[in-house]
Amino acid sequence: MDKLIIRGGNRLSGTIPISGAKNAALTLIPCALLTEEPMTLRNLPRLADIDGFQHLMTQFGVSTAIKGTRPEDFGRIVTFEASRLTSTVAPYDLVRKMRASILVLGPMLARAGEATVSMPGGCAIGNRPIDLHLKALEAFGAEIELTQGYVKAMAPDGGLPGGDFDFPVVSVGATENALMATVLANGTSRLTGAAREPEIVDLCNLLTAMGAEIEGIGSSDLTIHGVKRLNGATYKVMPDRIEAGSYACAAAITGGEVRLEGANAADMVSTLAALRNIGIQVEEDAKGVNIASDGTLKPVDLTTAPFPGLATDMQAQLMSLLSKAEGTSVLKETIFENRFMHVPELARMGADIATEGRTAIVKGPSLLTGAEVMATDLRASMSLIIAALAAEGETTVRRIYHLDRGYERLEEKLQLVGADIERVDD
Ligand code: UD1
Repeated sequence: MDKLIIRGGNRLSGTIPISGAKNAALTLIPCALLTEEPMTLRNLPRLADIDGFQHLMTQFGVSTAIKGTRPEDFGRIVTFEASRLTSTVAPYDLVRKMRASILVLGPMLARAGEATVSMPGGCAIGNRPIDLHLKALEAFGAEIELTQGYVKAMAPDGGLPGGDFDFPVVSVGATENALMATVLANGTSRLTGAAREPEIVDLCNLLTAMGAEIEGIGSSDLTIHGVKRLNGATYKVMPDRIEAGSYACAAAITGGEVRLEGANAADMVSTLAALRNIGIQVEEDAKGVNIASDGTLKPVDLTTAPFPGLATDMQAQLMSLLSKAEGTSVLKETIFENRFMHVPELARMGADIATEGRTAIVKGPSLLTGAEVMATDLRASMSLIIAALAAEGETTVRRIYHLDRGYERLEEKLQLVGADIERVDD
């Protein structure tokens, strides 16, 4: 198993290319199940989670062909072709490793009339139920059965009729499943209280390119007129707003100056507003975002919320940054109940953070020092890297397979802007 060794103190400066968005890619790939024609995704990040999802697709008889990129390039182009589905079962072993596998439920049901997917179970950042995914599919006419740890969804003969569903809680995953289930329904469906994260917009844009009829894109009120069939398409995955936000925090904590090449500021409104309030200079243009900091950081109060609110996926990284701010910051996590696992590790590096339920109180500025730390989940791992970049001495981060799930060639990108970071075989 690899580990990362970071020697802190270098001021980051230069340009970091931003990869395609993991969370968008994981909902765009299963769209290939909706058509017998080839679907090509450009700008797919090279990540363990994406490889895992590609593997899951082959389980259903989908062929995948990778082309047109050199090893030194970021991203790749992959063509998926589901001309014939050979299985409608997503087994436990694959779903267990990757929660996003639940996103095959909707499209598989729409295309094949049935889908059997292992229940994903708990996960490190809290109890992550799928009840809304299932209730939405029922509202569209599916019959759901839960047996032996599996969800079996069946459409009536002739396909899903479609229907209306009002989400009591904003759910990104359930909105994605609902969209993919209804685009091929016999009638019109309406989703209210739907998630409107940029990744949902990306999904709607791909579905539209495939011939789907969706009204209200970008809002929480979506109307989907089912069509008889969808065609293939070639589509470029949106830039990763969380990767970009993470590197913005990394640049800021070192008092650095970094251009996030390819980042889309409009997708990052709340993160960029938070950074500005912390005292960081943020400049946006059509092709990227520039971040500059003189190292003076102000404390702020932040609360995570569904888009356009502050992404829960940015909470840990901002917490590291705020440990260097002059004063007390308060961070509230409203999406997940157990998403402060980075706190004890940051404390081991010298941060002064107290938690009470879903609130963390960060007292700064702390003198951070290098330590041996353990990655617990994807974004928590990134918060440790950010702290390590500003820490005195050497930090060793273990269990970095979490990072490899979501950050394409992290150490190479950080080396590009002058960080002292290396990957070594443990
Ligand atoms: C969530 C985040 C997303 C982030 C991802 C990975 C939100 C709204 N969603 O998406 O930004 O990229 O984690 O960290 O910020 N819920 C239910 N029943 C369900 C589904 C969800 O009660 O069937 C609840 C969850 O427990 C949670 C909330 O709804 O409290 C939002 O969850 P959801 O958006 O579905 O999670 P992800 O799709 O994983």
